[in-house]
Amino acid sequence: MTAEVRVTAPAKINLCLGVGPVRGDGYHPLATVYQAIGLYDEVVLRPADAPDLTVSGDGVDITDVPADETNLAMRAVRMLAEHHGEELTVAMHVRKRIPVAGGLAGGSTDAAAALVGADLLFDLHTPRDELLELAGRLGSDVPFCLVGGTAMGSGRGEVVTPVMTRGEYWWVVVPGAGGLSTPAVYGEHDRLSAGRRIAEPEIPDELLAGLRAGDAEKLGAALEDDLQPAALSLRPELEELLAAGRMASAHGALVSGSGPTTVFLCDSPTHAQRVDQGLQYELATEPGLIVKGPVHGARVVGGHR
Ligand code: C5P
Repeated sequence: MTAEVRVTAPAKINLCLGVGPVRGDGYHPLATVYQAIGLYDEVVLRPADAPDLTVSGDGVDITDVPADETNLAMRAVRMLAEHHGEELTVAMHVRKRIPVAGGLAGGSTDAAAALVGADLLFDLHTPRDELLELAGRLGSDVPFCLVGGTAMGSGRGEVVTPVMTRGEYWWVVVPGAGGLSTPAVYGEHDRLSAGRRIAEPEIPDELLAGLRAGDAEKLGAALEDDLQPAALSLRPELEELLAAGRMASAHGALVSGSGPTTVFLCDSPTHAQRVDQGLQYELATEPGLIVKGPVHGARVVGGHR
């Protein structure tokens, strides 16, 4: 058996997020394009006699991260254990760099990392389709966090299909102050759209064409998020931030998923620095994070036997 496994777990953003009418089970049908970005949590797993979880924050507030068995990453290990009918007991450490409750799938990606990490730690060789199925049961974003890259999501987000994309994109990522609860943002979305007819969600052709061409300007013009009005309703100050990013020459500005993180699309690291400096100058924001996408999904990067 392996003594320790280290896994990197990327954040995701939604380049588009179409939200359909609420389903009978309370979830909303989605048509989304995810992109994994170069902002990572790290998850370290070791076999143990009793389950244990520790969490540390690397520049992020971890007050709201459960450091016990209710954490989605610990639930992922239990689900894998049940799937194999085995007892799998781990001591896990999660080092968080992804803002918590930020619309960046931080909790989901830790769970995806826990699945691949425990699978290797206990030499389980779980087939990929079974891991994806377990991931989908853990949360709507978890399968994408396993797959990474750029991919379409349908169903409630858990059905993931890779997308043709060329080149790399640079993002300024500005974490909002405090987090937003995903169910609360969906609730606000339902309240704002009450009485309106909501069409089945679709992915804009222009967005796919921009990705195929590797054209940041075209992609920037096609970015959209149906949850953005709800996030702005709960955090009105984000409107000014989005406008300032566009003024500072970003190709596109968007709330990430359910927010409150905002992301600004650029075509190079120097362009991203310029946009970030523009935001700091206009609104006295803290420096943003400058990262590229797409990057790989949750992946083992080290460990020892
Ligand atoms: O799937 P996940 O556990 O990440 O979803 C968290 C919450 O977000 C759900 O309980 C639901 O309120 C909302 N949600 C939704 N429709 C989706 C995905 C999530 O309403 N497609």
